[in-house]
Parts: sequence; C-alpha cells; structure tokens
Amino acid sequence: MPHPPLILAIESSCDDTGVAVIRGHEVLSNVIANQSVHENYGGVVPELASRAHAQNIVPALAEALKIAEVLPNELTAVAYTCGPGLMGSLHVGVAFAKSWAWANGIPSIPVNHMQAHVLAHFLGPNPDPGFPFLCLTVSGGHTQLVKVVSALDMSVIGETRDDAAGEAFDKVAKLMGLPYPGGPVLDRLARDGNPNKFRFSKPRVSGLDMSFSGLKTQIWQFLQHGQQEDPRFVEANQSDIAASVQASIIGILLEKLEGAVTQTGIAEVAIAGGVSANSGLRKALFSNAERLGWKVHIPPFEFCTDNAAMVAMAGLKLFETGRSFPLDIEPMPRLKFN
Ligand code: KG4
Ligand code: ZN
Repeated sequence: MPHPPLILAIESSCDDTGVAVIRGHEVLSNVIANQSVHENYGGVVPELASRAHAQNIVPALAEALKIAEVLPNELTAVAYTCGPGLMGSLHVGVAFAKSWAWANGIPSIPVNHMQAHVLAHFLGPNPDPGFPFLCLTVSGGHTQLVKVVSALDMSVIGETRDDAAGEAFDKVAKLMGLPYPGGPVLDRLARDGNPNKFRFSKPRVSGLDMSFSGLKTQIWQFLQHGQQEDPRFVEANQSDIAASVQASIIGILLEKLEGAVTQTGIAEVAIAGGVSANSGLRKALFSNAERLGWKVHIPPFEFCTDNAAMVAMAGLKLFETGRSFPLDIEPMPRLKFN
C-alpha cells in the first residue's frame, strides 16, 4: 500500500461533477466539470444535473488520473459524497464510485459533503487549523456553525432556519435580473458599490441560528418599490444594491460567528463552502480577527466551492480510522452529522 495513501474521490451532490486524486495532504489533481446547462433556467434543474453527471463522470475521472499521473492499480481507496445533496445527482456518483472501487479491488468510503467542506482546510501545504476550531460553512444549500473537535468529531451548533446564505445571494441576483449563480456576480458588482447606500433590517433569531428568507422578501419589496418610481432603478443602482445586500448577509453571518466564539470560548475560526469565496466576507473576517484577536483560516478559492479534493480529504481521515464500509450504502439527500 502506498504511503501516504492515494485517494481518488468523486463529488456529485449538486451541479458540479468533481473527481480528484490526493496523496496524503497533497492534491495531485482536482477536476471539476461545471454544468452550464442550468444558466438558462436561473437555478439548478435536478433532472438535467443527474444527466450531466452521467455524461461527465467517466471523462472527469480519466482526466483526474491523467493529471495526477496515477494508474488505477496504484490507488488505495475511492471516497465519494453520499449526502446531503440532490437525490438524482448523488445516485450517479454513489453508484459509479462503489462500482469502480469494487471493480478495481479497493475499498470505497462514503463521505458527508458538509464535513468535507470543513476538512478542505487540511488540503495543501498551509498549516492546518488547530483543534478545536469553529467553522462557518456557507454554501448554496447550507449555512452552519460547526464546532470541530477533531477531523471526525464535529457538531452543528447553529444553522439557518430557512434559506442558506448562498441561496440568498442567488435569489437576490435573480430578482435583479443577473445570471445564475448570483453569488460571484454580486461579489464582483459589490466591489464598486457603497455598502451603506441602502439599509435592510436584520432578522431577530435567538441563539446561534440564522434566517435569510425575511431579508430576501425585504429586498424583493425594496426592488419593486424602486422600480415603480423609476423603471431603470436596478440598472442605475446595481453596484450599490449588490454592496448593500452583501453587507447585510455578511452582517448576519459575522454576528452569529461572534456569538459562537463568545459561547464556546474558541477563537480559532475558519470559513468553508461556496460563499467563503466571497471577497467581502473574507475582508470582514480579517478585520474581525484583528479587532477581536481571532486566528482565522480561509481556504484557497478552488477548495471553497464544490470540489472532489475536499471529499478525498474526508475519505483519507475516515480511511485512517481503519474502519471498513459496506457496499450497500445508498444516497442520503438529507444526511446530517454523526
Ligand atoms: O459550496 P457550493 O459550491 O455548493 C453547495 O454545496 O451548495 O456553494 C455554492 C454557492 C452558490 O449559492 C453561489 O452563489 C455561492 O456559493 N458563491 C458565492 C461566491 N462564489 C460562490 N457567493 C458569494 N460570493 C462569491 N464569491
Ligand atoms: Zn457544497
């Protein structure tokens, strides 16, 4: 068996088909086949996502092995996302990964996608966060505050009660007539805008839980009102609206993160998931770190949004426990931690 282990990973929980190979912490390849088909619909169409995974998965695997310069018989194990995610999308990756591993005579390891987002921090040459740490995982489907005691011992201590932060970005962008996914588009526009131009009230949610659906309704009403006064309102104020919306979403996230630090006494803080690519959030986190004495960890961009390298890392941590995993694992769209 090669040492450190060589792990191949498959990610297919939503609309990106990912295949990666890692050797220990080193990422040898991280292939992502993005599905542009959804752009025309302003959101992910599950049926089309499953079909595109079926189309992309073999070429993506071939490319990942080629880039990594690894042969199938050199691999130690295959890790795959078994949930949470879209049922049809997961089905393709789960069935393919288990079959491919079985045919090659190596173990297959089911991975929780949200746990994998957190473990993206252990990829690459940067120093790992020290345990325990807090991770704000912000993606298109989830928004969670996670207390990470060790690589495989983590618990959700706060989460959104309705929409995810990424969903809020995407829905507001759609209301503004911007393309999908809206998060990166709003991020770019916000760089030239005034975050204080428009103000939105913060939802009142007790404890460490969050809510974003009220904000979305508030912004919808605000845009309707603006357009009634001036049909070109959105176009004329695009950057300022983007900056103001982004500041509101970041405000909610950071207030809860600060609450989590106070509650747990843990000042080692990480962010993960697609929204952690947001430049405003990254900047605000750094200034919080300086002001409050936090130690922050922000993953490189390629490990923020969905990717298979993070799944490989979670697979490696599970492999190192020596546990074995059955072959009758099925996709679990609503999989939770532990
Ligand atoms: O983690 P991810 O790739 O997929 C899920 O597991 O959901 O996250 C996708 C989400 C989308 O909502 C997308 O708009 C958002 O991440 N996103 C961003 C940025 N890049 C991606 N949101 C704000 N700013 C960004 N730069
Ligand atoms: Zn994700």
